[in-house]
Amino acid sequence: MSSTTTAPRSSVPQAFKLRVRRYDPESGQAAYWDEHEIELEGHRSVLEGILQAKNRFDGSIGIRCSCRQAICGSCGVRINGEPALACHTHLDEAIKSAKDGVIEIEPMGNMPVIKDLIVDMDAVHWKKVRRVTPWLIAKQPVPEREYIVDRESMVDVTQTMACIQCGACVSDCLAMEVDPGFIGPAALAKAYRFVGDPRDDARHVRLNDLSQDPQGIYDCTHCFKCVEACPKDVNPMGQIMRLRRIAGSDEQIVDVNNGHRHEEAFTTLIRDYGLLHEAELLPRSYGGDSWFGKFHPAAGKELLSSLPAIVKAVVKGKVSPTKAIFGHKIAKRDLDSVKRIYERVEGKPQRYELNLYIVGEDE
Ligand code: SF4
Ligand code: SF4
Ligand code: FES
Repeated sequence: MSSTTTAPRSSVPQAFKLRVRRYDPESGQAAYWDEHEIELEGHRSVLEGILQAKNRFDGSIGIRCSCRQAICGSCGVRINGEPALACHTHLDEAIKSAKDGVIEIEPMGNMPVIKDLIVDMDAVHWKKVRRVTPWLIAKQPVPEREYIVDRESMVDVTQTMACIQCGACVSDCLAMEVDPGFIGPAALAKAYRFVGDPRDDARHVRLNDLSQDPQGIYDCTHCFKCVEACPKDVNPMGQIMRLRRIAGSDEQIVDVNNGHRHEEAFTTLIRDYGLLHEAELLPRSYGGDSWFGKFHPAAGKELLSSLPAIVKAVVKGKVSPTKAIFGHKIAKRDLDSVKRIYERVEGKPQRYELNLYIVGEDE
């Protein structure tokens, strides 16, 4: 019989310093930091710390919370610069990443501040969720009793159903920082919830809409920030990639933004060269991997508009002109290994989507 031992938790309250970002847009004053020393056991949450500071020292600190059990999604904030649920972060964990021994708490990013730690979820997050038609459009005729759905299909959408709409992924999304109009990780994960549901009748319409929108699925830069931020392992970026695969490969949707072809260009370049070939990327994104594709007029136009950025990158030494033009070289043996991976994957009769979220086995 095996036994596991865990260190006993201290029930002795200890002092923690909290630095809270304060801002009231209606006051006309600039944002500032406030510091308070609270006393709690280390396993208590940052939320409890904030509430203690609010009760003992300053009742005007603005924080939104409800369940205190990582279920309602209300208490999203940034702790030491990282998005987190305040009720789901222990003080003794938070202190480890505190820069100067003070736990820093500020409102989530990419959303306007209403007061202190409270952001306007309606102006950004909920607006985007509404954008993706977040309800089932039932196939007709509706059965007299319930729909019968096979188990695998529901397992497939379970991961997105775990979302508690906390907005942590939205807070950290780099694409949204540059383009606030991007539909964003939480709303697109929600879109997959219905695209993956066999009872939904609007799969193609939804995918076409999200592909053709310049701020839709192809606006994501694949940066992984939302994956790291999510407290519920929803993996929003993974859901966006699944939407792309289904839209491009299964539904054959070629979007006006050239997102699908651009993605294919990356894949075929790695197959052919083992590494990215920058000079080939643009022509392939427009003309496919045929030799004549290089002369696609749209590729020339795009090249011209990208010239200032290219020149800047060369001047700053970020791009080597020789490597960019002639491509990176890898050993033939390594290239053969890459090609074998492609042959193996592409040789499969159908794509297999593995949902790693669900673990465990059927009896
Ligand atoms: S992976 Fe995409 S959706 Fe997620 S944070 Fe990065 S840009 Fe945003
Ligand atoms: S996907 Fe994760 S981080 Fe984003 S809103 Fe849902 S639970 Fe929060
Ligand atoms: S208070 Fe509900 S998730 Fe934190």
